[in-house]
Amino acid sequence: MSAKRLNLFPITADVNRHDHLVLGGCDCAALLRKYGSPLYVFDEATIRSQCQEYMHEFKSRYRDTTAAYASKAFINKAVAQIIKEEGMGLDTVSGGEINVARAVGFDPVKVFFHGNNKSEAELNMALDWGLGRIVVDNLHELELLNRLAAGRKIKANILLRLNPGVDPHTHKHTTTGILDSKFGFPIGTGQAEEAVKKALLLKNIVLHGLHFHLGSPISETAPYKQGLEVVLKFAAAMKAKHSFTMKELSPGGGFAVRYISSAEIPPVSSYADSIVSNLIALTSKLGLPKPRLIIEPGRSIIARSGVAIYTVGSIKDIPSVRTYVCVDGGMGDNIRPALYEAKYEALLANKVNARNTRKITIAGRYCESGDILIRDIAMPEVTAGDLVAIPVCGAYCVPMSSNYNMVPHPAIVMVSAGRSRIIRRRQKYSDLMKYDISGKS
Ligand code: LLP
Repeated sequence: MSAKRLNLFPITADVNRHDHLVLGGCDCAALLRKYGSPLYVFDEATIRSQCQEYMHEFKSRYRDTTAAYASKAFINKAVAQIIKEEGMGLDTVSGGEINVARAVGFDPVKVFFHGNNKSEAELNMALDWGLGRIVVDNLHELELLNRLAAGRKIKANILLRLNPGVDPHTHKHTTTGILDSKFGFPIGTGQAEEAVKKALLLKNIVLHGLHFHLGSPISETAPYKQGLEVVLKFAAAMKAKHSFTMKELSPGGGFAVRYISSAEIPPVSSYADSIVSNLIALTSKLGLPKPRLIIEPGRSIIARSGVAIYTVGSIKDIPSVRTYVCVDGGMGDNIRPALYEAKYEALLANKVNARNTRKITIAGRYCESGDILIRDIAMPEVTAGDLVAIPVCGAYCVPMSSNYNMVPHPAIVMVSAGRSRIIRRRQKYSDLMKYDISGKS
C-alpha cells in the first residue's frame, strides 16, 4: 500500500491483508458491521498528537502560550476529556459547549467564552461557573456583563474582540476579520477605542487584553502578521492614550489543514514561527510588554482524526454525462461541500489498493440536488455494498449535522490501540420525535 494514498487519513491509518482500511488498529469493515453504517470514526492518537504538536510548536518558541481548543469544530464528552487530559484550554461559544466542559470537570479557568450574541442566561452561567475569560464582542454585551457581575459583587475577566480589517482569503461564509463582519469591534471606525475606554471605566469589568480572529481555514501566514501589526499598533495607542496595559493577546484560530493531497498548507511550525516572531518583534518595536499569547485551533486539532465511512447503495450511470454513486449519508452529516464548496478525497475502505479506473461523483441520500459529497473523483470500480471512506471529516461535520429528511445521525466511535468504543450512539427514529409534544391538534 502506498503510504501516499493514506496521507490524509489519521496517523494510525493502515491496510490489512484483506485490503481493508485500518484505523487505530481496527478494521473499518468490521467497525461498520459492528456499529452500522454510516459511521464516523475518530482516531484518539491523532487528536492527542495534534494537541501536543500545537502546544510544542508554540510553547517552545513562546513559553507564555495558552492553546485553547475551539470546541465548535467538534465537542462531546469523550473529546472534551481528551482535551482536558492533554492540558489544553477550551474555547466555547454557547451554553451547550460550556455544559459539555462542565460535564467532564474541565477547569473553568481554562475556558474562554466567545460569541457575537451571548444571552443573559449564558453570561450568568459563565460568571457563576467562574470561566477564565469572556471574550466581549460588542457594547451591548459589555454593559450587560458589567451589570450581571455587579449584581454578584464580582468582576468579570474579559478580552475585547477586535476587528482589524484584514482579509484572510477564506470562503466568504467563514471570513470574520474584514470590516463588514458581524464580529468584533472595528479598529478603523474608532469603535474599538470606545470599547477599551468603556471597559476601563466599568467597575465590574477587568480588561486583560485583546482578541482577533480573521477567519477559517487560513492557508497563509501573512494575514496573521497583518492582524498582529494592526492590533499591536492599536494596543500601543491605547497604552499612550488611556494607560491600558495589554496583558493578553489572541490571534484566534483558523489554521488550515490538508483536505486534498494537492493542497499546500503551512505546517504548524510555520504558523507558530510567523505569529511568535512578529509578536516579539512588534511588541519590542512598539515598547509593549510581552503579553500572554492565546491561540484557538479547532479544525487543525480534530479534522484529520475523523473519517466518515459510508456504504454504497444505488449507482446511476448517465452515459457520456456522469456516474452518481449514492451513499447512505451526505449533507445531513457533512454540509461542508454544499455550504462552502469544500473539496474532499475518498477511497474504498474495503478495497484500499484497487486501481482507479473511472471518474465518479459521490452523491448523498438526501432529497436535494446539492447533496453531493465529492464531484468527479477518480475511483476503482464501485458496486453496491462497497465502503466509501472520506478522510479529514473530524471538524465541522458532526457539529453542523442536521436531521434533514428525518434521517438519524450516524454513530461515532473512537478507536485506539486496536480497540473501539462508541462515543455517541446512532440516533433512533424515536429520538427524532422525542421533543414532539403530541400528534393531536
Ligand atoms: N476562534 C474563533 C473566535 C472562531 O470563531 C473560530 C472558528 C475558531 C477560533 C476556530 O477556527 P479553526 O481553528 O477551527 O479554523 N464551519 C466552518 C468553520 C467555521 C469557523 C468558525 N469559527 C467550516 O466548516 O469550515
